[in-house]
Amino acid sequence: MFPALKLGPRPNRAALFALGLLAALPPFAHAQKKQLPEGPGKVTTQRICSGCHAAEIVIGKQLDRDGWEQLVSSMVDKGATGTDDEFNQIIDYLATNFPKPQTGDKNGQK
Ligand code: HEC
Repeated sequence: MFPALKLGPRPNRAALFALGLLAALPPFAHAQKKQLPEGPGKVTTQRICSGCHAAEIVIGKQLDRDGWEQLVSSMVDKGATGTDDEFNQIIDYLATNFPKPQTGDKNGQK
């Protein structure tokens, strides 16, 4: 009924097509998963850190509190505006949700 599906002179076509799909899918799925975790400070982080780029830019970065403080103050240098209180909330949020993996902690390593 579907002669084109019979194994003909080019049996690998379907396989190649499937491979192409596999190659194309993962980045798409990944992009959809990027969302900031829930927690205190999330709303402030979204509001203040999405002015110039997506606030989700922080996802995947892992820093200790000092590191986040430095990063946030470098964003202030670039022009991010907020109160001290707001920046403290953001640093707390980032340091809690995106901590630097402990050295020697197998589970913390990705
Ligand atoms: C006034 C604009 C502006 C605001 C507001 C801003 N950023 Fe940025 N951010 C930038 C620019 C410009 C870059 C590109 C950095 C570069 O080229 O060095 C960047 C890059 C970044 C990066 C990637 C840099 C790296 O080292 O990986 C992170 C993470 C980041 N911003 C986090 C934040 C956070 C957290 C906030 C909220 C406190 C924030 N940004 C608010 C302008 C801004």
